[in-house]
Amino acid sequence: MANPTLAGLLLLTLICTTNSARILGIYPLPGHSHYHLARALFRELAERGHDVTVINAFGEKDPPKIGKYRDILLPGLFDQEPKDPKREWNMFKREGLNPFVGAYVVATMATKFIGHILNHTNVQNLLHSDEKFDVVIVDNFLSDPFKAFATHFDAPLIAVSPVWQNMWINALAGNPSPSSYVPNVLATYYHPMSFCDRLTNSLLDVFNYLLYYFYVFPQHNAFVKQYVPRGGDLNDILYNTSLFLINGHPSLNQPLPFVPNMIEVGGLHMKPPNKLPKDLQEFFDDAKQGVVYFSMGSNLKGVQFPPEKRQEFIKAFSKLKQKVLWKWEGDELPDQPSNVKIIKWAPQSDIFAHPNLKLFITHGGFVSSIESAYHGVPLLTIPIYGDQMQNAHFSVKNGYGRFLTYGEISEENLLENINAILDNPKYKENAKRRSDLFHDRPVSPLDTAVYWVEYVIKHRGAPHLRVAGVDLPWYQYLLLDVIAAIITIASLGLVVTCFITKKICQKVCSKRNNKKKKTA
Ligand SMILES: *[C@@H]1O[C@H](CO)[C@@H](O)[C@H](O)[C@H]1NC(C)=O
Ligand SMILES: *[C@@H]1O[C@H](CO)[C@@H](O)[C@H](O)[C@H]1NC(C)=O
Repeated sequence: MANPTLAGLLLLTLICTTNSARILGIYPLPGHSHYHLARALFRELAERGHDVTVINAFGEKDPPKIGKYRDILLPGLFDQEPKDPKREWNMFKREGLNPFVGAYVVATMATKFIGHILNHTNVQNLLHSDEKFDVVIVDNFLSDPFKAFATHFDAPLIAVSPVWQNMWINALAGNPSPSSYVPNVLATYYHPMSFCDRLTNSLLDVFNYLLYYFYVFPQHNAFVKQYVPRGGDLNDILYNTSLFLINGHPSLNQPLPFVPNMIEVGGLHMKPPNKLPKDLQEFFDDAKQGVVYFSMGSNLKGVQFPPEKRQEFIKAFSKLKQKVLWKWEGDELPDQPSNVKIIKWAPQSDIFAHPNLKLFITHGGFVSSIESAYHGVPLLTIPIYGDQMQNAHFSVKNGYGRFLTYGEISEENLLENINAILDNPKYKENAKRRSDLFHDRPVSPLDTAVYWVEYVIKHRGAPHLRVAGVDLPWYQYLLLDVIAAIITIASLGLVVTCFITKKICQKVCSKRNNKKKKTA
């Protein structure tokens, strides 16, 4: 008879020896939304018995109960930037930025932080320790130097893309991403693209590759050489990524081609809703006409709205028969209408679950986009930067939302769009349909992500999933050499044919002339 204690002990040893891997997560950039998604994955990996270490800027407030979990925080990171109170970080200033300039600004900003992070004492201590890891998981957002940690620790590399489509990943994975129908993530147009859109899109794609190779890459490679002792050369590291986890799904974005080592896990952080806090529950229950929820996400603070724009919202909201819940970080809202409640932080996903929620006014960030998809909420999007415009277009195309540009914000435009969505059941029906698509998957996105991380650990990388296109030089990948050869041969053929025809003609003509001369 098996001894239950012994069996339990055996099982535990088994878990510890064969299934427990040492995982290093690297999420040091202070973007809350990227970390928010990855956090769910790291927690789940720890709860499944792995030993998880995460370099991050926030710290896990509620560490997993099971398994080992450790934060490596970066205190004082921001102190290294000279603070200028006049230039307080205001993301609204990035509205309407030209996508070419936008790409440059984002790259410059991220690179500045990366130097400070790599030189941080806690990061250097880790790099100079004798710790070992079985896999390294990196946020794939202009943070390539951290990928060198995989080479340093001799572990396979997994990159997690926070946005669904990503010019930064396609080249590394050899993934087809034709400029003809895949709008650049920073673009303001959407498909079907006109000729001018496709022209701009092609130029934007090429510009981004050039920006990366001539501006970003040299700086990043120098960082690796300077700060990561056994980091090697960044070029070898980037093209040797075992797996890409993509924060996308056909319910969230246009369907795209993916090579075998790119796996879509959009929505992996979603959980069934919790009960609302008492005051919010009452607020929603009492709203017989429904509630409009307004939040511009974690990076765009409501209080940073220029007062004249804010006033347009206040005037529009005061004319609604619905109640409005406004994510507002200040203590009070000037001229607050009686049907408006302000809240500094809201359990957004739980709010979406309440049947009285009728509409979400959003900036269209990817976390909000996913959370509204999960619960089937109609959207009015006010896109500001990055992928938000694409998400706004997607909502219009699929009939669950409308959008207003920042410049179009006015009392009339707001009321017109809000009422159009509230009065027409089509928006809610399409949002519900989107939610059904979101949930209809063979395996949940979190289980999918965990499966693939464990797959990479088990097989020590996944070189067998890599497409051959990754190793081709760009001109071979695009078949430019073949096209050039065909054009050359065809032109040569044409020249030769012309030459021969001319010769024959000349011969025939001269013979005829000779004959004429003889008969004459
Ligand atoms: C790196 O950090 C050390 C202290 O930890 C500091 O003395 C040095 O100036 C830093 N280097 C750079 C380039 O910031
Ligand atoms: C590529 O990654 C695999 C798996 O981690 C590793 O074994 C191999 O040495 C790497 N190759 C290069 C050239 O870095």
